[in-house]
Amino acid sequence: MTGNSADVSFGGKTVELPTRSGTIGPDVIDIGTLYKNTGAFTYDPGFTSTASCESKITYIDGDEGVLLHRGYPIEQLAEHGDFLEVCYLLLYGELPTKTQKDDFDYRVTHHTMVHEQMSKFFTGFRRDAHPMAVMCGVVGALSAFYHDSTDITDPHQRMVASLRMIAKMPTIAAMAYKYHIGQPFVYPKNDLDYASNFLRMCFAVPCEEYTANPVLSRAMDRIFILHADHEQNASTSTVRLAGSSGANPFACIAAGIACLWGPAHGGANEAALNMLAEIGSVERIPEYVAKAKDKNDPFRLMGFGHRVYKNYDPRARIMQKTTHEVLGELGIKDDPMLEVAMELERIALTDEYFIEKKLYPNIDFYSGITLKALGFPTTMFTVLFALARTVGWIAQWNEMIEDPEQRIGRPRQLYIGAPKRDYTPVSKR
Ligand code: CMC
Repeated sequence: MTGNSADVSFGGKTVELPTRSGTIGPDVIDIGTLYKNTGAFTYDPGFTSTASCESKITYIDGDEGVLLHRGYPIEQLAEHGDFLEVCYLLLYGELPTKTQKDDFDYRVTHHTMVHEQMSKFFTGFRRDAHPMAVMCGVVGALSAFYHDSTDITDPHQRMVASLRMIAKMPTIAAMAYKYHIGQPFVYPKNDLDYASNFLRMCFAVPCEEYTANPVLSRAMDRIFILHADHEQNASTSTVRLAGSSGANPFACIAAGIACLWGPAHGGANEAALNMLAEIGSVERIPEYVAKAKDKNDPFRLMGFGHRVYKNYDPRARIMQKTTHEVLGELGIKDDPMLEVAMELERIALTDEYFIEKKLYPNIDFYSGITLKALGFPTTMFTVLFALARTVGWIAQWNEMIEDPEQRIGRPRQLYIGAPKRDYTPVSKR
């Protein structure tokens, strides 16, 4: 690679490929003309060396453990901002002025109700359905309820759909939870902030007054901030790919939710908490660390490792602090899971296997303990992730639609199946 180009030699031919530089981060080699000029594709399963798009939204330096949204470090946003402020930042590119913030809060707050007919939709699910299954279905169904915001060529409709999704996701998530546990749905309340409103919709019952605890609301809000966006991860790429065909935004977000569900992605917080429960006591940690290191054992330490972070996940540090704040507020002094988690972290961080492979705790390692303390069952953990990530998905989706270089996403393949052969009738096989 020299200056602003890179030479690739293939089949006796050398082609010069242009390179591009971002504001920060590695340069990219633009391989758009490679096939035309050499007849070869590139091969990169898992996209470990492939930038799929340009983006101005989120930047991660995995080696240094840095996460920036529109240039602002996650630590500063989580410490000083609130979730709707971060939503505004992700969507519009700048932090809002006071007037802009008030207006945005008002618009989101006044979109939190869902069409009453949607409540009937929930009852079509079995009571024991996983709430993520319900989320996939109900969020996809939004496109059947809000026809006036599905024209993706109209910027106004795109913004209405964006606000609708940010506003309605807590209501739908809380409804999924209430349906799951057999309690009546609780309607949103406009005088509450985003996080308090969500906690109330989850934990209030008609027979009692509900008072939001500001420490727990702040913790919930911070958890939302920490999950708001994370660059071109699997679910975001899914949303972009689904959107690249021109699909409506509600359908695209439903696709993102489906992808997030997997245990290697958003499902890891549920898996991490289940793992801590299974380990049970500090004495059993060495047994599980040995299992994680054993090549013949598929077991992995859930909440450890990350495709991009080869350093401590900056979100995990903030999450750990939030965990302590929540447990302190609730008077939970000797939580056995927290004890196992802290000791497991200590052992793993000093173990040669984890050091060599640069496996550090990720956000999911501590989020499960916090969410459990807040009162959520493990099945809701990924739902909360989906709720918070919706703004990231929708911001990335908007960016993609507005990108003049955007085309339908269509990866190629290295075909390793049978070459052309002739059909033989069944009697001759
Ligand atoms: N425990 C034990 N060994 C591990 C772990 C782990 N959690 N993670 C990776 N390794 C080993 C892996 O066996 C491999 O070893 P070798 O080189 O000897 O084959 C090496 O580290 C590299 O792993 P990889 O699977 O090639 O790395 P990846 O980038 O494809 O996977 C990951 C990243 C997050 C899927 C993986 O680290 C993992 O499965 N972690 C546990 C699940 C988890 O916590 N996921 C949450 C991710 S953060 C939230 C989100 O963004 O969704």
